[in-house]
Amino acid sequence: MKGIVLAGGAGTRLYPLTLAVSKQLLPVYDKPMIYYPLTTLMLAGIQEILVISTPHDLPLYRRLLGDGSQWGISLCYAEQPSPGGLAQALIIGADFVGDDPVVLILGDNLFIGEALRNRLTSARQWVEEKGGGLIFAYHVPDPERYGVVEFDSMERPISIKEKPECPKTNWAVTGLYFYDNRALSIARSIQPSARGELEITSVNSAYLEEGALVVERLSRGFAWLDTGTFDSLAEAGEIVRVMQHRQGLRHGSPEEVAWRMKFLEGKEILRRGIGLDRGSYGQYLRNLFNEESVS
Ligand code: G1P
Repeated sequence: MKGIVLAGGAGTRLYPLTLAVSKQLLPVYDKPMIYYPLTTLMLAGIQEILVISTPHDLPLYRRLLGDGSQWGISLCYAEQPSPGGLAQALIIGADFVGDDPVVLILGDNLFIGEALRNRLTSARQWVEEKGGGLIFAYHVPDPERYGVVEFDSMERPISIKEKPECPKTNWAVTGLYFYDNRALSIARSIQPSARGELEITSVNSAYLEEGALVVERLSRGFAWLDTGTFDSLAEAGEIVRVMQHRQGLRHGSPEEVAWRMKFLEGKEILRRGIGLDRGSYGQYLRNLFNEESVS
């Protein structure tokens, strides 16, 4: 399975923060925002990843993330010339994805939770073996900001609406989508919405109509955070800070995930990384790699 991180958009809701800096490069406490979705894909076992951003911002992502070899992964880059909707990422990424299944994650979505790695691995295996699509839903107080999923009495999804004025439930669709290869042709076939975008909700609805969409609910105990507003950006940083401070374990570290996933050995990660021989981040990794008993 191939992975795509979509880090496009103008980030207008966060002006003036995003006038000069791409939103997904802003800090979430102690790391650039994109580290979190990137490590989510790595935790799913994905090692071939395409980063999509604007022509203007792409050089910064290349500078930050390089070719991925420092983390035992392979990173490619592609431009989204103008914001045409999330589903456009599947069209832009078609050559990169080839005949494989694909997982798309939004560059401003953070997932933190117990057994996240297991959930991600199971989702990946499900789609690789059974096909179709698999997405996650999360209970929120403000569903009108999101894609909203409605379930029947058997907890099967029956509808998904993008930013409905009167949401039928509080279950928001998160920005993490596992699809079989048909997603590429579905994305090419959908029509732009009233706001002129190729909506990812249209892709999900196409799978739903075929009875080929699994919607997994993330229960309390999981933190799903988007960073689309000043408050949600600050909250995301605060959650990361509090959890890291309490446990002494970091979230969203590509070096740590590469090591835990056995993409590279610890000493190789330290050798290839820039600046890991100084600073508290490097110190944390050096301690961790010497302390194999922590899981
Ligand atoms: C997008 C999707 C929406 C989803 C959300 C998750 O919204 O269109 O269905 O719930 O991401 O972050 P947007 O960020 O474009 O407002």
